[in-house]
Amino acid sequence: MSCVVVEVDHPLVQHKLGLLRDVTTPTQQFRQLVNELTLLLTYEATKDLADEEFEIETPLERTAARRISGKKVAVCPILRAGVGMLDAVLSLIPGARVGFIGLYRDEETLEPVEYFVKLPNDVADRDVLLLDPMLATGNSTAAAVTTVKAAGATSVRLIALIAAPEGIARIHRDHPDVSIVVASVDRALNEKGYIVPGLGDAGDRLYGTK
Ligand code: URA
Repeated sequence: MSCVVVEVDHPLVQHKLGLLRDVTTPTQQFRQLVNELTLLLTYEATKDLADEEFEIETPLERTAARRISGKKVAVCPILRAGVGMLDAVLSLIPGARVGFIGLYRDEETLEPVEYFVKLPNDVADRDVLLLDPMLATGNSTAAAVTTVKAAGATSVRLIALIAAPEGIARIHRDHPDVSIVVASVDRALNEKGYIVPGLGDAGDRLYGTK
C-alpha cells in the first residue's frame, strides 16, 4: 500500500493556518486554533471509517441512518505538542481510548528518544489516530508508528498540522501503509530541524514556554 498524503486545501483550514503561523498570535489563540484545525483535519482523516446502515424511527417515520461500524478508535498524541490536538479528536469521537507516546528530539542528533509509552490494552483492535502537529524529520513520528505497530496496531493514520517533505518521505519509506492528513506541506527543514516557513516550536507556542 502506498502512503497517502492529503493536504487539506479548505479555506477555513488555510485561514486558520495563517493565523497559527503568525508570530504575533498569542498563546491562548494559538491553542484555540490548534483545536479548531484538528477538528477539521480529523473530519478528513476519518472519512473512510467503516460504517453501516441501520433503521431508526424519527418522530414522523422509520428511515435509514448510518453508524460507524468498524474498529473502535485509539487516539495517540505524541508528547508534548500532540496533546494540544487531543481534545479536538475526543470531542468528535468521545468513545475513543487514549494512548500517550513520549518522545523528545535530541537537539544534537535530531534522533528520537522514547521516555514514556502508555497505550490502550486493546490497541491492536483499534484504528489508531496518531497526533503530532509538526512532521519535521519524521524520526520521532516514525518511531511512534513503530511503537503502536509493535503493540499490534495494524491501522494507523497520522494527523499533523504542518509537514516537511523530508518527514513525509520518512514515513513513506518506513511506514507506507500510514496515511497522513495535514494542513500544509511546507518548503523544507532548516539547519536546526525546524520546518520553514512553519510556525516555530509548536510545544512552546501551545504552552507558553521557551
Ligand atoms: N517541531 C516543532 O515544534 N517545530 C518545527 O518546526 C519542527 C519540529
